[in-house]
This record gives sequence, structure tokens and C-alpha cells, in this order.
Amino acid sequence: MLLHVTDTSRPVQPHGAGDLSCGGDSREPTRQEKMCRRTSSLRMSINYNSNSSAQALGSSTLTPFLARVTTKLNESLPKGEVFNVYDYGCATGGSSIAPITAICDRIGDRKLRANMVDLPMNDWDVLRITVEPQFPDVDFVYKPQSMYLPIANEGTVHLGYSSYAQHWLGDGAPIGLPEGAMWANQLPPGHQDRLVWEESSKRDWETLLALRAREVVPGGFLVFHIQSSSSCGGLGEACAATMQQAKLEMIADGEISVEQARKMVVPEYLKSPTEILASVTSGANQLLWSVEELQYKKLPCPLGEDLCGRSENDLGGDFADKIIKQQIDMLRAFTDSSLELALDSEQLETFWARAQRLANGNPKKLEFDVMGTFIVLKRSSVSPVDHLICA
Ligand SMILES: C[S@@+](CC[C@H](N)C(=O)[O-])C[C@H]1O[C@@H](n2cnc3c(N)ncnc32)[C@H](O)[C@@H]1O
Repeated sequence: MLLHVTDTSRPVQPHGAGDLSCGGDSREPTRQEKMCRRTSSLRMSINYNSNSSAQALGSSTLTPFLARVTTKLNESLPKGEVFNVYDYGCATGGSSIAPITAICDRIGDRKLRANMVDLPMNDWDVLRITVEPQFPDVDFVYKPQSMYLPIANEGTVHLGYSSYAQHWLGDGAPIGLPEGAMWANQLPPGHQDRLVWEESSKRDWETLLALRAREVVPGGFLVFHIQSSSSCGGLGEACAATMQQAKLEMIADGEISVEQARKMVVPEYLKSPTEILASVTSGANQLLWSVEELQYKKLPCPLGEDLCGRSENDLGGDFADKIIKQQIDMLRAFTDSSLELALDSEQLETFWARAQRLANGNPKKLEFDVMGTFIVLKRSSVSPVDHLICA
């Protein structure tokens, strides 16, 4: 049975965004409809909750940051005021359990409203049955829309958080990529195609900060974990290098056309901490937001000591095969819906079989050893309108 997605508090839409559906008639689509159409195929797999140990680790690393700001906000809010929180890019909710628990633990008997935001194609039924039984006292509101659009009424959000979601490009891949690259970060800095992705990512981040500045109350917070590039802008992950190699082999063996190869990308751009900070510390944003905390670090291995505590020599046989299967399931859970835009199902299976063969029994070749930026932003009392007058 399909559960209905409720959207009980329609946002004020200052830019004339209109209704939140994807449209479908013959008139010229609005910017919202174009964005909705281009990203609407993005979704995590139905079994994402059981194939996202890496992402769950990212959100549990975010929880101490959330706990600190929740304590501050709880002390400053009037008694009886509902604590209004937004989770941007919640997917099917498995990774939202730790953040919501941390928030609930710090607000005493104050009521929590948790607004769950993700793209329309997200599996909203799985989300609902994941979070609601865990938190019977929380008022959940479901918002099937992009985080790069207005979401809430002006000045109503106390705390917004996001983990492993802001690096997905709001309009999907702006252009295809050459040279076997699956992410623009696999091209050298300054490469003309990479610059187009970089620009899209910058625009998304700045749009998000501007929109949230209208919605978050003065003194409220955004707490984000943004999957990031290495400090020189590249992708350090072993799994990304192996996937690029598998794609190159398919090109060399004529298993995909040149056109398919360009389209065969994952629309995530990994910003460096410098890029993340540049947007917060320039233009209007430097007046609207202040950086309260920032941490940039390599996340621990999601498969724990099982994998990362062992040397390559100890990683043989059935054990290695079991880990490699888990790694491929994890990678497929978040990349398949993007790869399906370029490949048919047979090509997709060939691609993963090649990645598995390239790992050659060594899970280190598919390791998800990612960098993350954890950032806490506090909303100032400057109104978005005041800053326009100043400028
Ligand atoms: C890798 S998952 C992370 C999910 C969850 N936060 C976690 O840590 O497991 C990325 C999520 O971000 C969502 N997402 C990507 N772009 C989005 C956008 N523009 N607006 C809202 N959600 C978005 C995807 O649909 C997906 O559910």
C-alpha cells in the first residue's frame, strides 16, 4: 500500500516557485519543474538502510555537533515552543536515527517536529516505517522536494542538518565527462569540464545558504556533514579509482559507446573545505552566517576492524569475498539510479562484475575511505533584505 506523503506546512515561496509537483503539461517549465525533472530519477535503493553503513557513520559523527547546538537552542527557546528541525536529504531514514536521538535527548519534554526533506523519488514509505516507530512522540512532516528550493516559512526553522547529501548536484550532471571519469573530481583542477561541475556545486551551496537564511531564525543553526574532496581537490577513495578503471575497460573493449561513456557519471561534486568556506565567508553569506565549528577529516572505515584492522595479507578467501560483496552492495545502493541513465541493465551488471574482478579478492581496492567536512553555521540577526540594502 502506498503511504501518502504529507506536506502540511506549505512554505512561503518568495521566488514564485508555484506548486511542488513536477508539472507535465505543455507550457514552458518553471526553474523548479526543470530541476525536479532533471533530478527526479535520483533515488537510493530500496535496501539503502541496510547498505549504508558508511553514511550511518557520517551521521553518527555529526551527532556531537548537533547535540551541542541543540542544548544551546533548548536553553534559549521559550517554554512550550515546538523545536522545529529539518533533515535535508534524509533518504530512507536509517541514518536519521542517531541525529534525532541526539536531539530528543537534549530537549527534555519539549515537543520535536522533524521535517524530512528528500527528492520526490525517495522511498517515502520505507522512510516512514523506519523513523516513526522509533520516535512515537516526534511529529514527522515529509517534504518531497529539493533542498535547493524554498521549503519552510520565513524565520521558523531552529535547526537544519544534513549528512552525505549536499554534495549531490541539484540539477544533476551539468555535462558528461571524458577520460573514463565518473566524478568531475577525477579530472585535474582547471579542466574545462570539471569547472562546469564545480560551478554548479558552488551555485547549489550558495543557493542553499541564501534560502536557509530566510528560513532559519536568528540564532538558529545549520549543521552539515558534506562529503569532501582531498585537500588538493581529488578523490582519495580507492573505490572511485576502481570504478573509473572498470569504466575505462568497458570503453576500451567497446562495451559502451563514447556517448554512453560521457553520460556514465555520478552527479556528486566533492568540494574541498576551502571551497565550502569560500561561499560562507564572502558576499551576503558572511553577514548572514557565522562559522561556529569546522572539522575536516577522513572518516573511519565503515566496515570497521573487520576490514581496516587487517593487512592485505590477512584478507584472503571467503572473508574477502564477503566484504567485497558488501562493498559493491553499498556502492550500488547510491550510484545505480545515476548509472541507469547511461547504461542498460546488462551493461550495468557488466560494469559491477568488472569492478569486482578488478578488486581481485582484495577489499582494499573498493575501500570507501572518504573525507568529510563537518560545519556548524549560526544564523546572524541580519535580515536577508538588510544585506541587500547594505550591498
Ligand atoms: C547518500 S544519501 C544520504 C542519505 C542520509 N542522509 C544518510 O546519511 O544516509 C543522499 C540523499 O540525498 C538526497 N538528495 C540529493 N539531492 C537532493 C536535493 N537536491 N534535495 C533533497 N535531497 C537530495 C538523495 O535523494 C539521497 O536520499
